[in-house]
Amino acid sequence: MFDRPSRRTVLTVAVTVVISVFLDLALGAISIVRTDGGGRWQATETVPLPNPSTDGNLSVAAAIEARRSRRSFGEDPLTRAELGQLLWSMQGITQRPTGHRAAPSAGALFPLELYVVVGDPGVEGLPSGVYRYRPSNHELRRGSTGNVQPALQRASVDQEHVGAGAIDVVVCAVDERTTGKYGRRGERRYVPMEAGHTGQNLYLQAESLGLSTVAVGAFADDRVRDLVVAPADQRPLYVFPVGRRA
Ligand SMILES: Cc1cc2nc3c(=O)[nH]c(=O)nc-3n(C[C@H](O)[C@H](O)[C@H](O)COP(=O)(O)O)c2cc1C
Repeated sequence: MFDRPSRRTVLTVAVTVVISVFLDLALGAISIVRTDGGGRWQATETVPLPNPSTDGNLSVAAAIEARRSRRSFGEDPLTRAELGQLLWSMQGITQRPTGHRAAPSAGALFPLELYVVVGDPGVEGLPSGVYRYRPSNHELRRGSTGNVQPALQRASVDQEHVGAGAIDVVVCAVDERTTGKYGRRGERRYVPMEAGHTGQNLYLQAESLGLSTVAVGAFADDRVRDLVVAPADQRPLYVFPVGRRA
């Protein structure tokens, strides 16, 4: 049988647990603040998004089975609720006060930033332009107006589906948030893995809403970064056109 632990051991374990819980909460709060920074992004307007819903007609298993890369889109715009739901599934905050999100993140450091290129007409009641998602308030910040979808298509080796969706979600990464703790492994492995998690959530959420999407990885990084006016320390990892089914 085991010896009873000494009072000193019990005290050391208790203090360690308290410190780790405190650090976890503090890091979560810090990462919320840090990931709200938009760098050279000059936001002109804040757009609140409707609260996400956790109801749905499709089980996770049914969405996994039905999921496909869909490259043709209908003409009608998305609703603001649909847009909010899609963004929430990718990077929405699902636990407070820790700030933990819909997709897992190495060290809870949250290196991903989401930009939305809204087409014409892309989303009911939203002027076309480029927006940035702010998970902390579940809202968008508008950075520019004007439809940059045709330019995004050209920057994506002219793939027609990039210009044909109602919107494109551009997933960018701030590698430094993760390399500070994990070094090169963070950049080479963890950050791209996180883009994969977030993209799969989008695929499944789009399937559940009866929408179409496709992961696009073929594009000129610098041109895509410029189009969404992301800071130089961000690298685009994915473009996801989303729209109604054709
Ligand atoms: C990392 C990655 C990059 C991709 N890049 C593109 C792309 O640039 N253009 C495109 O049309 N599809 C792209 N796809 C989608 C794949 O072509 C698609 O997933 C594959 O054909 C399997 O079909 P499914 O998604 O319907 O199962 C990409 C998928 C992944 C995972």
